[in-house]
Amino acid sequence: MLMPGFDRFPSLAGVITVPSDKSITHRAILFGSLAEGESFVQAHSIGRDNLASVRVMQQLGVEIYGYFSGSARQMAEEEKLTDIEDSSSSPLALNSDGDCLLVIRGRGLQGLKAASDILDCGNSGTTSRLLCGILAGCLFSTTITGDRSLVKRPFARVSQPLALMGAKFSADYLPITVTGAELRGLVWKSEKASAQVKSAILLAGLFTDQGVTVCEPGLSRDHSERMLQAMGCPIVEETTEDGQHTVILPEATVPRRLNPLQITVPGDFSSACFFLAAASIVPNSRLCIENVGLNLSRTGFLDVSRRMGADIQLLERRIVGGEEVGDLLVKSNVLAGVEVSHEDVIFSIDEIPVLALQAAFSQGITVIRGAQELRVKESDRLAMMAGMLRLAGIEVEEFVDGMNVTGNRSLLGSGVALPTGEWLESHDHRIIMCGALLNFFLTGRVECYLPEVVETSFPGFYDLLTSLVAE
Ligand code: S3P
Repeated sequence: MLMPGFDRFPSLAGVITVPSDKSITHRAILFGSLAEGESFVQAHSIGRDNLASVRVMQQLGVEIYGYFSGSARQMAEEEKLTDIEDSSSSPLALNSDGDCLLVIRGRGLQGLKAASDILDCGNSGTTSRLLCGILAGCLFSTTITGDRSLVKRPFARVSQPLALMGAKFSADYLPITVTGAELRGLVWKSEKASAQVKSAILLAGLFTDQGVTVCEPGLSRDHSERMLQAMGCPIVEETTEDGQHTVILPEATVPRRLNPLQITVPGDFSSACFFLAAASIVPNSRLCIENVGLNLSRTGFLDVSRRMGADIQLLERRIVGGEEVGDLLVKSNVLAGVEVSHEDVIFSIDEIPVLALQAAFSQGITVIRGAQELRVKESDRLAMMAGMLRLAGIEVEEFVDGMNVTGNRSLLGSGVALPTGEWLESHDHRIIMCGALLNFFLTGRVECYLPEVVETSFPGFYDLLTSLVAE
């Protein structure tokens, strides 16, 4: 049933791009810093998390020059990056606002220098956990810390395996002092599918001739494996029928080295999902999102949304920088509730909040299970989403590992704004964007909550949404 005034609700139409993939950009910065020679990383609109990776590698003695256009430059200055270059002298054209080029003078695997200060990773779990893997192999001590969210997130998941390889960790929560050592090899069976844990162990493995093996209960995102291979480092992978995934960095017969990278980072699928959901839900929408990374270990949201009835077409699939990329065309449709399993969660770990939001405007009940890991992300994302949806009048039953969301399409365009609450206080970028979208679904208006927090992963989010609504 449509509410009065619904015919005037703005639809979403146009062709858009989203910021570059945060996970791939982190890896390009960290791995490029360990390479022998100069790496070039071309990206569009990277967020504050990625700038934290640049800053900490600069503190460890890596020269990283950043050419930033427009708003990206302002953010780089706010994040106190050194070596911000004049974009007009960039060796590659920076075409649109937010573009950036990072030139990384890799110092090789033995070349990092002890930092004179604590390394502040801000909000970034990926920077801090992957950094643990690197610092484990550096023969000095370094203290890492982070913001009020990161200091509450568990680090035993990386410190335990890295300690078995020989490194020392002063605590299980930040701030942590990591003391590196001559490392030994490891065979590690992870309880969870976690790309941060897998990548930290692989990075530490680069510092020993002995082999490392990581077994995980399902395939977590595999950007590290792809990038290491592209840099000349052999990786062996096996997946058994029951979904168990094993990654091996074999014993080295000659000293390990990484070749420098030249990479154009595709758009972030996790960021694209906000607009896939928005255009699916808002009637009469037709949106094309160009140049989106479609690595199969990331696109669980597509599978679940299609099961819900979403009309999302893949227009052109191609390979860029060793990763699958495509353009996605999404048209609105009435969606129906589905069951989201633990396996779905592995492939959509960062998109579960958006799926819960999408479920709220679908017909029937969506059952999400096996998502306990969301409780230790930038915030307790299950609690934040359950609370937020209830504030909007949606029926939610919360479980330790998920929730049941009873869709209520009659709330679309109801005109009642989303009340503020814990979701806003969470300062969690993805939760804040979900709140902004939910408020948009309710009122048809764009309210710009905490734009500097949203810039953690999605600079320009509000401008993009506003521009679509205005058209
Ligand atoms: C990431 C891995 C995931 C994801 C995070 C980014 C990465 O975390 O949630 O946003 O880039 O490796 P886990 O490894 O903890 O699942």
